[in-house]
Amino acid sequence: MSVLSGKKIILGISGGIAAYKTASFVRLLIKAGAQVQVIMSPASCAFITPLTLATLSKRPVYTQFEKDFGEWTNHVELGLWADLMIMAPATANTLAKMANGLCDNLLLATYLSAKCPVFFAPAMDLDMFAHPSTKENIRKLKSYGNIEIESAYGELASGLIGQGRMAEPEDMLQTITDFFNNESTLYLKAKKVVITAGPTYEPIDPVRFIGNHSTGKMGFDIANEAAKRGADVVLITGPTSLTTTNDSIKVVKVLSAKEMYQACHEVFSSADIVIGAAAVADYRPKVVADQKIKKNDEEFTIVLEKNPDILASLGAIKTNQFLVGFALETENEIEYAKSKLKKKNLDLIVLNSLNDKGAGFGKPTNKVTFIDKDFTIFPQELKSKEAVAKDIIDQIVKSYVE
Ligand code: PMT
Repeated sequence: MSVLSGKKIILGISGGIAAYKTASFVRLLIKAGAQVQVIMSPASCAFITPLTLATLSKRPVYTQFEKDFGEWTNHVELGLWADLMIMAPATANTLAKMANGLCDNLLLATYLSAKCPVFFAPAMDLDMFAHPSTKENIRKLKSYGNIEIESAYGELASGLIGQGRMAEPEDMLQTITDFFNNESTLYLKAKKVVITAGPTYEPIDPVRFIGNHSTGKMGFDIANEAAKRGADVVLITGPTSLTTTNDSIKVVKVLSAKEMYQACHEVFSSADIVIGAAAVADYRPKVVADQKIKKNDEEFTIVLEKNPDILASLGAIKTNQFLVGFALETENEIEYAKSKLKKKNLDLIVLNSLNDKGAGFGKPTNKVTFIDKDFTIFPQELKSKEAVAKDIIDQIVKSYVE
């Protein structure tokens, strides 16, 4: 799956012949799973129609402040909505306006309101491109943090040959894909991420235990994903047959909840992020027999005592660690997950419900819902556990940055 999947992208089109290439650019973005909001300067509508782009982007295209009589297009909302904005083509005129804070159309007003990273792909004739004022405008825009997607050298609409051809749609797609990949990768670089995985086994005697159906896959997939993004990963796992795909992951094997508790506390003070994906037994046998218990009466009673709640104990002492828990529920899912988030002092909770087909234990897939500290709910689709692990890391990066 592309890193662009679900990303909200504003494509700002200004009035140059290269606007015709935006039709295939929009198609590529949509194919990659992005949500694309096209905003056109009035001049660009002479080069490609809003109808073409609305059809390809599957959304209405905005060209002016007024939508219909009495209804305006809210550029501030648009600017806040986007994960990324790309001005392509960015003509000499639009570049000059962007560089100097002019906003005489909806596209420019949205640009000025945008809080997300902004890319621009210059497109113009070679002499316009070479002009010192254009060079200065590009320099200024870069100094504001905007990112240039450099124009290519080649044949221009005028028939002349030189620099000023807008980058090809495939190259623009690659640039923003790399940007999103690097953004998350770099963010976890040098971060210590501690992950718990698998079941715990609570011994009854030397041959028996109380356990559960967790295979560890969810936790292992998160560990692999975090390591891929450059994190320094410690995986504390209960009994499982799984292995990690990345040798840099430090694996700590434990058996019981008590051992997992101890292992977590040993590394907690140096951790930046802790993710509790393990299915930890809430209770353990009060007495563990030294020898195998022999069959005797018809009935046999095991007295259980409470295990420590690992996440709650970490939540109680956390300083700047970002703490993520899971909630595995069978009823009142959202309500119980919210209550765990609060009680354990978590920053994020990942809810999976056994009522959802394909979710939870053992399966290669999962269907989760994120609930953040403000109780904002982000339901997700049923996906492979690898894809869910990616979403979890993305969500953590997002919340952690904010
Ligand atoms: O391993 P798989 O087969 O891939 O299955 C994945 C999974 C279903 C185990 C995983 O997605 C999951 O839901 N893990 C948490 C299971 C669980 O124990 O949920 P809970 O609602 O009982 O616990 C809430 C949170 O507190 C969890 O993060 C748990 O790790 C933590 N906890 C629970 C009890 C305890 N004593 N200490 C804890 O830290």
